[in-house]
Amino acid sequence: MIKMQRKGLILAGGTGSRLYPLTIGTCKQLLPIYNKPMVYYPLTILMLAGIREILLITTPEDHKLFQRLLGDGNSWGISIKYEIQKTPAGLADAFIVGADFIRGHSAALILGDNLFYGDDLIAQLKYANEKTSGATIFGFPVSDPERYGVVEFDHDGYIKSIEEKPKKPKSNYAITGLYFYDKSIIDKALQVNPSVRGELEITDINRMYLKEGNLKIQLMGRGMAWLDTGTFESLNEAGSFIRTIENRQGLKIGCPEEVAWRNGWISDEKLFDLGSKMKKSDYGNYLLKLLINS
Ligand code: G1P
Repeated sequence: MIKMQRKGLILAGGTGSRLYPLTIGTCKQLLPIYNKPMVYYPLTILMLAGIREILLITTPEDHKLFQRLLGDGNSWGISIKYEIQKTPAGLADAFIVGADFIRGHSAALILGDNLFYGDDLIAQLKYANEKTSGATIFGFPVSDPERYGVVEFDHDGYIKSIEEKPKKPKSNYAITGLYFYDKSIIDKALQVNPSVRGELEITDINRMYLKEGNLKIQLMGRGMAWLDTGTFESLNEAGSFIRTIENRQGLKIGCPEEVAWRNGWISDEKLFDLGSKMKKSDYGNYLLKLLINS
């Protein structure tokens, strides 16, 4: 039996108004994080999980910019399609906007401004992607849980409750912007009602899975980084973090060409071709060096 592949969604909507004037002329998910556009990082997370069919959800204004940058994904051995979200209606709306693309498949959603890094990451992603029923979310300890969806655990470590931006968080575990759901996701998204802030909350979807006993959480430990990009400070810090690790290790984080090549989705010749086109930049040279060192 052929296994149905999970589809991937990247949500790159929103006005980015907390980063004005940076995001007046472009959108947040295209801002640089050191040497790459922000969207490369969540895109490669989906690729590392093994997902090859991806839908990018964007605004009417920005969708041409994303198309110019990412194209149809063919040169990275993946397929990228686009869908427009007319107004930012909440994370759960991604599954309604993407319903035709997902239908009949399980899906993973990643927010276009979420950056992850860590040794255990690939194993965690592959594990979540292998599961065909229920939902998997990721918990990360933060110092300011009230800004996020927060998970409460019982004595045995099972999820007891989930709250969206609680004034008094019941734990310091925030739910990250990466979600793996089974085929029932569209039906669930259609049942969500707008919250007080007028959005279709992903937390309500997670609660539905919790009620069914079908919600799993994978905790990200001390060796992992989940970076914030929501303020000038955190945006700058995220860039510095990537720069520090990349320069020290001589390896790149969030490089779609490399991930595609290591996954066996593009040939040596293709990687050479991609690197040659950018050989005036360090990024292009890095791609060419991968071939020499292999
Ligand atoms: C959203 C979700 C929240 C989650 C966060 C992760 O928050 O509603 O549960 O913890 O993403 O980045 P928002 O970005 O809408 O404030």
